[in-house]
Amino acid sequence: MRVLTGITPSGTLHIGNYFGAMRPAIELQEGGDSFYFIADYHSMTVVTDAAERRAYTEGIALDWLACGLDPQKAVFWCQSDVPEVCELTWLIGSLTPMGLLERAHSYKDKTAKGISPNFGLFAYPVLMAADILLFDTNVVPVGRDQKQHLEMTRDIAIKFNQTYGEVFVVPEERIRDEVAVVPGLDGQKMSKSYGNTIEIFGDEKVLRKKIMGIVMDSRTPAEPKPDAEKNLAIQLLKLVAPADVAADFEARLRAGGLGYGDLKKKLFECYWEYFAAARRRRAELAADPGHVRAVLQQGAERARAIATAVLQRARRACGID
Ligand code: TRP
Repeated sequence: MRVLTGITPSGTLHIGNYFGAMRPAIELQEGGDSFYFIADYHSMTVVTDAAERRAYTEGIALDWLACGLDPQKAVFWCQSDVPEVCELTWLIGSLTPMGLLERAHSYKDKTAKGISPNFGLFAYPVLMAADILLFDTNVVPVGRDQKQHLEMTRDIAIKFNQTYGEVFVVPEERIRDEVAVVPGLDGQKMSKSYGNTIEIFGDEKVLRKKIMGIVMDSRTPAEPKPDAEKNLAIQLLKLVAPADVAADFEARLRAGGLGYGDLKKKLFECYWEYFAAARRRRAELAADPGHVRAVLQQGAERARAIATAVLQRARRACGID
């Protein structure tokens, strides 16, 4: 069973990304056939600065490797190192109904926000379908926001198969149940667009300030807090602290006597410790950019071997050979 997912390099990763997407994806690598790529072609619609794209792409590679992606177990590459995906985009795009693309939420949302639409934004779901179909993918684990893109991929695959014969594996979606909805600094879902994020990696002082700045209610430390489990710092602590430590702090907050300042201090400490090994590993990797480049290149070679075979199948089926 082949699992594949793409990561768009358009920002700095935060702990919501980590617990919601990265950790579950990295756990899947133990199962064998896992494919992860950095979707730099997709970033073209959001990032228009070359240096920025380069930096985000390198950053994502470091983040994922530091957080435990093992290139011996999973195939990890940069999308543009397998440019066959663009050719497949054309082949399947020529069968993709305009109506299907016009109904895409992400396209409609962006144009509604006043972003002037371009071909890339419109064709985004076709490129994403090509990413998936090019590798005979069985399962695509994604967040809820990508559900429609997956349905479009299935529609496109089915239509191509009906037109030209059984070329593509029709993938299953696997929508990640939001087991780990990570609250942000303001209590809403942690998201770059809400500006409420705690980054996985970053400057210690800045991050301590962010955590110590979490706004709490005005009850005194002595007051018992029967709603302790709803406290934002407690919720975050449960993600990054050993279970007994989180349980102890929750009990103390409930009973009264634990001040919010002390709670947040503990949260920062546990958060910093949780990512300490990854932080060290990231620093080592960052000091050896040649190694990271080689890892991605080897990944691209493995990915490309599959991609060329599938593309060949698709070309032949539609009479381009
Ligand atoms: N569109 C996805 C996102 O924004 C990223 C992505 C690109 C992707 N290609 C993919 C995800 C293929 C899964 C499969 O999150």
